[in-house]
Amino acid sequence: VDGLNTRAVAAGKEYFGSATDNGELSDIPYLEGLSNTADFGSITPGNAMKWDTIEPSRGTFNFANGDTIVDLAEKNGQLLRCHTLVWHSQLPSWVSNGGFDNATLIDIMVNHITQEVTHYKGKCYHWDVVNEALNEDGTYRSSVFYDTIGPAYLPIAFAAAAAADPEAKLYFNDYNLEYGGAKFNAALEIVKLVQSYGAKIDGLGFQGHLIVGSTPSRSSQESNLNKVAALGVEAAFTELDIRTTTPATEAAVAQQAKDYAATVGACAAVEKCVGVTIWDYTDKYSWIPSVFQGQGAALPWDENLQKKELVYNAILEALS
Ligand code: G3I
Repeated sequence: VDGLNTRAVAAGKEYFGSATDNGELSDIPYLEGLSNTADFGSITPGNAMKWDTIEPSRGTFNFANGDTIVDLAEKNGQLLRCHTLVWHSQLPSWVSNGGFDNATLIDIMVNHITQEVTHYKGKCYHWDVVNEALNEDGTYRSSVFYDTIGPAYLPIAFAAAAAADPEAKLYFNDYNLEYGGAKFNAALEIVKLVQSYGAKIDGLGFQGHLIVGSTPSRSSQESNLNKVAALGVEAAFTELDIRTTTPATEAAVAQQAKDYAATVGACAAVEKCVGVTIWDYTDKYSWIPSVFQGQGAALPWDENLQKKELVYNAILEALS
């Protein structure tokens, strides 16, 4: 059956995927769309595997929500991009405000990674090991991890993940890398930093939270992907959505179709770009309107779970 994932696989990619969240799974028509492997060969839990869910207090682990997503992927025959182990956000205050010294925080971080990756061993095709470590100017973002441990927290995190599941592909993941500026260059440096410590890193994740009409050209995105490949690692678009002012005009939707084609087409054209994940598939469950007032309509399916034919077909074509 033709679909986004079918086309992606036919083009030599590993998957086309979608994020999802536990609260959405009781919406049966939604669940049917998500479970359609012609469109989605991979799913990503939007919240279920984050630190505040998994280890809300020190040493207490709650895998129930994550397990639900794992079971769904297995039932559907989908890959799983697991997200995310070390992030400054959705981090419980016992970690961020704990006042731990360097050695103790390393223990806490390594224990969290070891417990979580071991629990999901063999289930996660990809792990976003560290998420959003950078500022826009390419400096390291201040976080309890950076401020306490320094940049070594990155290789330490990757080494711990690799030790717990040697088969999983390990990613550093961040947003606004698509523009190819200082932040992108710093992400390349993070790949090199982890490699220089002798720790395993397999990929760079471009989140891809883009804006209609301001999306970088396909050729510049291809050039970014080639720079990643030159470091001997792979790349993926991990959270793609392209937002606009709502309600979306016809012209905006036409532009959005072109913008999706630019990003998806860049991935299709570069062998080391292994797949594209959209950050949920329908506007019904997009995170955008709650964070960016007056914006949204960012996904290929509308709020009524109807395909936006123009956008959907542009993605299909970009994968061909
Ligand atoms: O589950 C609670 C619910 O009990 C409560 O009543 C409700 C009231 O606010 O909040 C619910 O939690 C929300 C959660 O999503 C689940 O829906 C949080 O408030 C909300 O902040 C959280 O937002 C998530 C966001 O990360 C937080 O940073 C989004 O769903 C999730 O899609 C988004 O994903 C991030 C990626 O992980 C990293 N890259 C950016 C991306 C978009 O922000």
